[in-house]
Amino acid sequence: MNNFRVKTAFLSLLAFTALFVGLGRGTVPTARAAERKLIAITFDDGPSRYTEELLDGLAERGAHATFFITGVNGQSGAEHYPELLTRMWEEGHQLGNHTYNHITLTGAGWETIRRELQNTQTLIEQAIGGHTETMLRAPGGLVPEKLRRTADAPFIHWSVDTLDWKRHDEDRIFREIVRNAQDGAVVLLHDNYAASVAAALRAVDALEEEYEFVTVSELLRRRGAPAEPGTSIYSVEGALDLPAYVAPTVTFSEGTAELCSPDGLPVYYTLDGRFPTLSDGPAEGPVPVTPGTELIAVGVDGFGTRTPALCVTVGEEESPNCT
Ligand code: NI
Repeated sequence: MNNFRVKTAFLSLLAFTALFVGLGRGTVPTARAAERKLIAITFDDGPSRYTEELLDGLAERGAHATFFITGVNGQSGAEHYPELLTRMWEEGHQLGNHTYNHITLTGAGWETIRRELQNTQTLIEQAIGGHTETMLRAPGGLVPEKLRRTADAPFIHWSVDTLDWKRHDEDRIFREIVRNAQDGAVVLLHDNYAASVAAALRAVDALEEEYEFVTVSELLRRRGAPAEPGTSIYSVEGALDLPAYVAPTVTFSEGTAELCSPDGLPVYYTLDGRFPTLSDGPAEGPVPVTPGTELIAVGVDGFGTRTPALCVTVGEEESPNCT
């Protein structure tokens, strides 16, 4: 056993402990299985007019991604496409912070930096209905030293740079992803170029037998790697293979539903057919329900990563996970 294995085993023990003090980021370690490799594709600078097509394509393929969003970035940014942020959440993607106006943080005043990050964090929290820990990606990967010392989130860099913003060449972007893919890789893309969106979806098709496409927070969690504030993460080379989250379970009794996350996460739910956000819970104790009510429930961890959803109509046979 080399040092790194020891370190990740220890960290996963910490994560396991964190589960019981309410951080909700841990799970029971298991031996590394020879399952699919994990890879995180990330999209900066959007959302844009191409993002909807990207979300459609990812949903068709069951692939998850991380979106480091901006507020206003020319014709792109969340202010232009507010509904897409909630859709990203509902479809199991991760929302990260790429500043509000896509400014270079090195050289910017402290008050500007604070405002740029806070305004985008506010957009994320509005979209998902509550507070979550976040992850930061500084434009250009340039992080001022003072920010690194004081940040309350990790900085996510990348191990595969497709240079898609420069070339706009679908074939070349596709080849860069496929050629450089490896377990734990973080791939940098931008969803404000048609070529990037097309290349990313082709790469998912080419790699999906060998790789599972996960969010950055899921990549870190599944490999037992830490996500400490102020650290810089380029790729994740953990030795662990923790299991994916599973949907909450429900037990009905005497007009109530008792919801439980097997992963030990807080459970958010709705009874009106909407997909739950962080404003819908967490459930505390049995939930009163009546026959015919449509119950949708998800568990959510401290980084806003959610479990698959449980979808049940009360009084009917339980349906399998709906998303
Ligand atoms: Ni950028």
